[in-house]
Amino acid sequence: MIDIVGREYKDFPEPKELTSHGDARIIAFCNQKGGVGKTTTCINLAAALSEYGRKVLIVDFDPQGAASAGLGINPYNVDNTIYTLMNNSKLDPHDFILKTKIDNLDIIPANIDLSAAEMQLVNEVAREQILKLVLDPLKADYDAIFIDCQPSLGLLAINALVAADGVLIPLSAEYFAMRGLALLVDTIEKVKSRLNPDLKIEGIVTTMFDKRTLHSNEVISSLYGGFHDSLLHTVITRSVKLPDSTIQALPITHFERNHKVAQAYFQLAREVITRGTVK
Ligand SMILES: Nc1ncnc2c1ncn2[C@@H]1O[C@H](COP(=O)(O)OP(=O)(O)OP(=O)(O)O)[C@@H](O)[C@H]1O
Ligand SMILES: [Mg+2]
Repeated sequence: MIDIVGREYKDFPEPKELTSHGDARIIAFCNQKGGVGKTTTCINLAAALSEYGRKVLIVDFDPQGAASAGLGINPYNVDNTIYTLMNNSKLDPHDFILKTKIDNLDIIPANIDLSAAEMQLVNEVAREQILKLVLDPLKADYDAIFIDCQPSLGLLAINALVAADGVLIPLSAEYFAMRGLALLVDTIEKVKSRLNPDLKIEGIVTTMFDKRTLHSNEVISSLYGGFHDSLLHTVITRSVKLPDSTIQALPITHFERNHKVAQAYFQLAREVITRGTVK
């Protein structure tokens, strides 16, 4: 079978069970365009990986607190957020981890407090490294740490890119979504050359694909033309089940696991393990 860009259709193998945990890779979900599926992909991929026995920590790094809310945590009722940690290097980040309803999936929440950080960090020494210093001690406890970025390329996004080993770029299959991609890749390259030489673009995940529209198909073909193997095979289709599962405060992988979008997120989990993005 051939996929829409003419590649051989791939079904990725069931991952091997891990015999031990730790030495997490940190992955930033980054795209300065709003509403492209960053948070949805971060939560659902993390949940799918947790089903495969991977221990995953989500770091909500958006003052909107969407990842926290999506996992059933009211971000306005928590005092211990990533913002608090970034403001006080003496605090132990382990104390800020909340369990979710899903086994193997934890979160450090965020709320509106984080919106002040962008301004405050400007005057800090080594202002781009602050998130990295917070997260590094947590690597030993997880197989993957996912940072759900806000839609911007400001200092918080740079902090995420400095803390990360890799970047996953969720991108909705629409023309407008593609327009900012060159700037995003350019920013990632700058961070790589100046601050984080090991940073890797792990791939672009196409979201909100609608096979009925010609332009959705064209977007994927043109992404493949520009990015080749960085374009992941798994494509997430558009479905109202995703906003529905947000209302349930559960990932679709747990809300309706046989739904085709849930199955696509399991496939994405197998793909990122096969690629070595997550072990
Ligand atoms: N595949 C999909 N099909 C339909 N709706 C989707 C899909 N993926 C995400 N959504 C919905 O689109 C909206 C935006 O998604 P999401 O919050 O994941 O994007 P985001 O990039 O994190 O946004 P922001 O830039 O504001 O952080 C949400 O209401 C979400 O439920
Ligand atoms: Mg988001």
